Amino acid sequence: MIEIDGNRLNARIDAFAAIGATQKGGVNRQALSEGDRQARRLLAELGAARGFSIVQDPMANLFIRRSGRQDNLPPLLIGSHLDSQPSGGRFDGALGTLSALEVLESLEDAGIETDRPVVVVAWTNEEGCRFAPGCMGSMAFASGRIPPEWETKLATDGAPFVGELAATLESLPMADMVGLGFPVHAYLEVHIEQGPSLEASDIPIGVVGGIQGTRWLDVTVTGQTAHAGTTALAYRRDPLRALTAALSSLYETVMPADPDARFTIGRITVEPGSVNAIPEQVRCTVDLRHPDQGRLNDLEQRVASMIATEADRQRCSALISRSFDMPPCTFSNVLQQAIELAAKDRNLKSASMLSGAFHDALFVNRVAPAAMIFVPCRDGLSHNEAEYVEPRHAVAGCEVLAAAALRLAGNA
Ligand code: GLV
Ligand code: MN
Ligand code: MN
Repeated sequence: MIEIDGNRLNARIDAFAAIGATQKGGVNRQALSEGDRQARRLLAELGAARGFSIVQDPMANLFIRRSGRQDNLPPLLIGSHLDSQPSGGRFDGALGTLSALEVLESLEDAGIETDRPVVVVAWTNEEGCRFAPGCMGSMAFASGRIPPEWETKLATDGAPFVGELAATLESLPMADMVGLGFPVHAYLEVHIEQGPSLEASDIPIGVVGGIQGTRWLDVTVTGQTAHAGTTALAYRRDPLRALTAALSSLYETVMPADPDARFTIGRITVEPGSVNAIPEQVRCTVDLRHPDQGRLNDLEQRVASMIATEADRQRCSALISRSFDMPPCTFSNVLQQAIELAAKDRNLKSASMLSGAFHDALFVNRVAPAAMIFVPCRDGLSHNEAEYVEPRHAVAGCEVLAAAALRLAGNA
């Protein structure tokens, strides 16, 4: 058994929540921003202060390593991310990263040697809101390469990806550089559920069996800008009219017809954005989710054909491209069992569940067995500044991570 320090964990969550803190108690610490860099620096300093080695890879994935008795064995990897949504909560990502650091420190405090090294990771850009796609760090780690098309990527605020990545790497001079990807024995990630089911059933631990599929689309509808006062209906080629008609029909049909489907428009821009001009161009993002890959394909087709039809009707053109495609995944049974046993060891009730949100674990799962531990959050609310996890639930998640980590890293 390994005892974690629950007070230290919750104090750390508060300390990280102060970086990029928003007025409403959340955080805005978007990927590769100054806030993200500060959070990484603090994590690296905390690890270095305990004598752990600190390295980063070319995607600025940050690793904190505690040696094992058989130090050449592939490590147990534990962690999550530190970047946030623009109106993000203080737990999404930070909880899992800081729980992982807490496990490392608790092993050190107790003088417990593990057979394998244990490595804490903070992945780069899990959220995907400042630079799409999400999970860029874990995706590159799993594939061993940075896709060349990322080099020209711009942030929603116009900043170039390449420059922001370089500045982030430079902001951690204490971290040695390692190549992208290394053999991993297993990967565990603690995360808030971001949905209501654990809280509703009063179960402190979710054993995550898999993640539903996600697809992101970038939609551009182009018409003709013209005078708002003088252009009669017959002369208008209004892309906003086309897009809103398509969206309103999709809102009425996609989710009402299928309780497992998720359809979200999170960003929309109108150009030139003048009060008295018909728009020239409108753009929006589409976030589609479904546990079934075939249904996700159907949904994408439906969205595309509805937008094409309405664009046609308004004599506009429509262009749709995918910015993210994450098929559903199933996590390792062995790791799910390890989490279940760890919860039992700690006398905590657990339940199996599927994740509605995507996570870095999905990409790591492609190269090593992976699984996740969920804890309840208040009202199932996440991607919201009011996101809240009870301290006792944060502690429970970390205890289960610690117990499962000890089992997987070995200390016979
Ligand atoms: C992760 O942040 C997601 O959008 O599922
Ligand atoms: Mn997250
Ligand atoms: Mn998130």
